[in-house]
Amino acid sequence: MVANSVELPVPRGVANAATLTVTAKEPVADGVVSLTLAHPDGSRLPDWTPGSHIDLSLPDGTTRQYSLCGDRWDAHTYRIAVLREPAGRGGSAYVHDQLSPGDRVGVGGPRNHFPLVPSRTYLFIAGGIGITPLLPMVHQAELLGTGWQLLYGGRTRSSMAFREELTATHGERVRLVPQDEFGLLDLAARLGTPRTGTKVYCCGPAPLLAAVEAACAAWPPYTLRVERFTADAQSAPVRSVPFEVELRRTGRTTTVTPDVSVLEAVRRAGADVLSSCEQGTCGTCLTPVLEGEPEHRDSVLADHERSANDCMLPCVSRSRGDRLVLDL
Ligand code: FES
Repeated sequence: MVANSVELPVPRGVANAATLTVTAKEPVADGVVSLTLAHPDGSRLPDWTPGSHIDLSLPDGTTRQYSLCGDRWDAHTYRIAVLREPAGRGGSAYVHDQLSPGDRVGVGGPRNHFPLVPSRTYLFIAGGIGITPLLPMVHQAELLGTGWQLLYGGRTRSSMAFREELTATHGERVRLVPQDEFGLLDLAARLGTPRTGTKVYCCGPAPLLAAVEAACAAWPPYTLRVERFTADAQSAPVRSVPFEVELRRTGRTTTVTPDVSVLEAVRRAGADVLSSCEQGTCGTCLTPVLEGEPEHRDSVLADHERSANDCMLPCVSRSRGDRLVLDL
């Protein structure tokens, strides 16, 4: 460790927790810095695939999730990009104002709940910092020789991270739409008529995701995959009375009252479940369901994953019936 550098603890309760060194920090757009992370002894980092994110621990003991946006074939460094969020909880301000090259940070993961599935063509739609998980997807599609286009919106041109890297490498396939020059993304024009053989991947602020979901409503099932930064607004749970959760492998049954999450209840009953965001956005606590019907209240699972009812995110999701049986 270099003199005067800081060392943040590794995240608790997440997979592959490790301490990495910040080897570079640079501005990549107005209000956005990229961090390059490497193992202190230069050893290889866990592999990842496009759409993956890592957990970064912060001095207050909380963790934040950031998409990996570097070269997945570089086995020795990770790159993330962090938007300064003045209304946030302080994590981005810490990264922008205090974290420096030479500091060590606690990192968990990578994990991928936004995987790139095979398709004849892709339409990638990014809003602002939502470019980060899509950047490695663009590179992957290019590598595979698959047809793709990127529609990338942002407040202003200078606020759009990696715009030069994208346009210099991919030219016409990338359509940059700074809002102050062109207005909002013209989704109808870009999506065109519903068709098979195209997957739409979207990441960005909630209004953009809602608009893309509406625009894709008539497209074939499973066309659209989205990644959210913040939890979806949820109505009250469908059940206002307790339900039981059986932990099949642990051999215990616990009662989940309305004021307690399933995650909390199963931990109290002795099950060891990893968690990170505890808001239904990161996917860390994904748990197999053996019996019963979960009430999915997360922002991670796709519609077909929800309807399969064979897994749930117990930090936010609950039960529709009297009983759930989990593979814990
Ligand atoms: Fe993040 Fe449950 S801990 S989804």
